[in-house]
Amino acid sequence: MTTTAYDKQTASELIAGFDARPEMLVQILHAFMQRFGWISEAAIRQLATELNLSRAEVHGVVSYYHDFRTSPPGRHIVKVCQAEACQAMGSRELSSHAAKALGVEMHGRSDDVTLEPVYCLGNCACSPAIMVDGKTYGRVSTERFDEIVATLQEPLR
Ligand code: FES
Repeated sequence: MTTTAYDKQTASELIAGFDARPEMLVQILHAFMQRFGWISEAAIRQLATELNLSRAEVHGVVSYYHDFRTSPPGRHIVKVCQAEACQAMGSRELSSHAAKALGVEMHGRSDDVTLEPVYCLGNCACSPAIMVDGKTYGRVSTERFDEIVATLQEPLR
């Protein structure tokens, strides 16, 4: 996953890209996630200042959505879909397997990997689905999960 360290100048440019409109906060937060990988306290302060919102308002939105991470991710990000179609096809078992295989709990992280739930990857016809570093995989059995994580350039464990 390629993200850059947080810096105020880049953050300001991202905010300006949305004309610093407070109603665009969710979209701006997504842009921050793409660029920086997570939403830091410094980012929340800057967003509040530049969008003329209170810090509590920004915090409220950040904590409401599952997508916004409030701590830096590991080098790889593995998401296991928890939505209905995937649950029906065994995503709970797959999540337990992923946690064991990666050595981190769901929502947990190590330097190597962050393991997160996700609520539909738009791949319901091929459930259960996972996403690894932005790439979606379908019909993921526990064996296939192990194969997928083994092919990452930097070994996870
Ligand atoms: S429910 Fe898992 S991809 Fe849609």
